[in-house]
Amino acid sequence: MFTIGLLIGYASINAQTVTIPIETENNVLLLQTDPENRLRTIYFGETLSNKNEYLSVSDLFYFDEENVGIYNSTYTPSGTWNLIEPAIQIKHADGNSSLELKYVSHKVEQINSNTTLTSILLKDPIYPFQITLFYKVWKHENVIEQWTEIVHSENKSVLLEKFASANLYFTNKDFYLTTYPGQWAKEMQPIETKLSRGMKTVDSKLGARAMLLNSPNFVLSFDKPASENEGTVILGQLAWSGNFKLEFEVDLYNNLRFISGINPYSSEYLLPANEVFKTPALIYAISNKGTGEASRNLHSWARKYRVLDGQGERLTLLNNWEATYFDFDENKITTLFKDAKNLGVDMFLLDDGWFGNKYPRNSDKAGLGDWQVNVKKLPNGIAHLMKEAKKEGVKFGIWIEPEMVNPKSELYENHLDWVIRQPERPEVYYRNQLVLDMSNPEVQDFVYGIVDGLFTENPELAFIKWDCNAVIYNAYSAYLNKKGIPQSHLYIDYVKGLYSVLERIRIKYPKVPMMLCSGGGGRGDYELLKYFTEFWPSDDTEPIERIFIQWDYSYFFPSITMDNHVTDWGKQPLKFRIDVASMGKLGFDIVASGLNENDLQFCKKAINNYHAFKNIVWHGDLYRLLNPHENDIAALMYVNADKSSAIVFNYLVNYRQRLATTEQPVKLNGLNPNKKYRIKEINLYPGTKSQINPDKVYSGDFLMKMGINPVIDLQRTSVVLEINEVK
Ligand code: DGJ
Repeated sequence: MFTIGLLIGYASINAQTVTIPIETENNVLLLQTDPENRLRTIYFGETLSNKNEYLSVSDLFYFDEENVGIYNSTYTPSGTWNLIEPAIQIKHADGNSSLELKYVSHKVEQINSNTTLTSILLKDPIYPFQITLFYKVWKHENVIEQWTEIVHSENKSVLLEKFASANLYFTNKDFYLTTYPGQWAKEMQPIETKLSRGMKTVDSKLGARAMLLNSPNFVLSFDKPASENEGTVILGQLAWSGNFKLEFEVDLYNNLRFISGINPYSSEYLLPANEVFKTPALIYAISNKGTGEASRNLHSWARKYRVLDGQGERLTLLNNWEATYFDFDENKITTLFKDAKNLGVDMFLLDDGWFGNKYPRNSDKAGLGDWQVNVKKLPNGIAHLMKEAKKEGVKFGIWIEPEMVNPKSELYENHLDWVIRQPERPEVYYRNQLVLDMSNPEVQDFVYGIVDGLFTENPELAFIKWDCNAVIYNAYSAYLNKKGIPQSHLYIDYVKGLYSVLERIRIKYPKVPMMLCSGGGGRGDYELLKYFTEFWPSDDTEPIERIFIQWDYSYFFPSITMDNHVTDWGKQPLKFRIDVASMGKLGFDIVASGLNENDLQFCKKAINNYHAFKNIVWHGDLYRLLNPHENDIAALMYVNADKSSAIVFNYLVNYRQRLATTEQPVKLNGLNPNKKYRIKEINLYPGTKSQINPDKVYSGDFLMKMGINPVIDLQRTSVVLEINEVK
């Protein structure tokens, strides 16, 4: 990291100008103080070889404010000179709402050879109020994590009305933004828009299950629409599991202001003196070679530095949710252990419905919150199930939804004050349930106790699926009221309460794999993924839809974090479903005993194959080859680190009768041009023959320039190819 504080000889810069380059390997975010000591973002783009030349950047651009604000302020205050969208808005202890921020100092910590942390202190010259901007840079991965800390020493609390994590500024001609709205079973539906003058906002006000309708993930592309292998792009995410807001504003110079953070909606926060308010982080990967390189970098960052056990292993599993729903008993479940063993998966996962006695959890209408084993369904308890699973040689995992409650439950009867609800208004339900008040330490203890209890009673419990199905209606906390804390803290304190429970869980149980689920994919974010090993992208497992959903998630998350289950959704053959689910962590949610002989044999063989290639999918580099949004065929490949092995997945996604066979080869990527490879088709359904010659040897150069034709047709709708180096 290179920082400059120096004397400059040209007029626009005064004697104390400080220039702070935040540099990744290929790009730089260049910050500089102006003559009044305000910090501005003067450039974002490729790094310069001669660092001294950063000093010549500012006189190339014209950023005059035209009396309404400083568009390129690095953290835009409000109530003083600025009349455009602020990054921060506050009310001082004396009720005054003016804020000015001036540069005071900065430091750069070299954490290791790849990582630096730059922190920049800004202070209000009148009030004892300051903020620190943090930029953590993983140089090699070109990833930046950015957050802000706010602190003051005024004589009473200060009211924070808006408190962004990041306030970025990009100079360019055109900006293309891809956002990912969604809904249940339709997560991550991309929309790319060319940004025009004005503001585009993406936000959530749902409280819990906050990502149901909008995702905090985005792709920003400079000059032209985002493409896979060229162009400057940023792939980003606000790592916050509650209400978020992303604001993209093209200013009067056609530059882009980007402000992101916790959604200020109904969230004014009273900050006592000398307490630090830390915002969530904005995480982004930058590439000048398109979304492909950016996402590979983000994946590798996530595996190495962020996701719990990101470089470890995952458990393949059989889940009973779609096989039984709530209708099961001990016999049914223990029979499924045999299926799990017969299939060759590592684990059985017992889903919803195992608890509640006064109000048995026999549907989603009752029992949620009563985490005692249902004695009718499972008279011998979880311990017995685990023993039986062990006899079959499979591990055992369990589903919980600890943040939620059905009104028909003992928990609701005994602890009404733990429930988020307006006491004077009729209750409003989402999936017949309400949300517990995670801002309340007693509720936090209760939630911690559910997990701790399960592990204490069943030390060999191998896995937890942590679900979260409801949004917050009627936001009101009896606890905050009792404590005299403003209700507007609820949305934030809920999420903080959740993180603090997870922190405690991970101190005691650092390694046990846990899956994030939110009625599907509401909750894959990089803050929660510090505590979880994986997430459930969507309840939609119809395999063609799933190809799109997995494709769109794949920009942001490595395959090792994504759980894909084979279910009975849709009409595609079993082979197609297994091939699609194999592009991540493979699981099953089917009645395996109901499979015909061929299907069963195929399943076993495919799981075997998966165990052989899973390390490439989990830890290798992903190359998206053919985009299903643009082609009749989707193709993706994973390549291992030394480029000696790869797996290519090809699917027909558009059933057009005119399709005789794939007319063109699929160009591969990520191989070594100088290596020689053989290609073998795997996951062949019994009785079918491959169209691919396994003996032929190709150079990597040929495969990447010419490609290989997977011979997809209406009979061969899914083709998996294994590529191995020939020595
Ligand atoms: C929603 C999840 O997405 C499903 O996989 C399942 O666990 C149900 N909840 C159980 O209620």
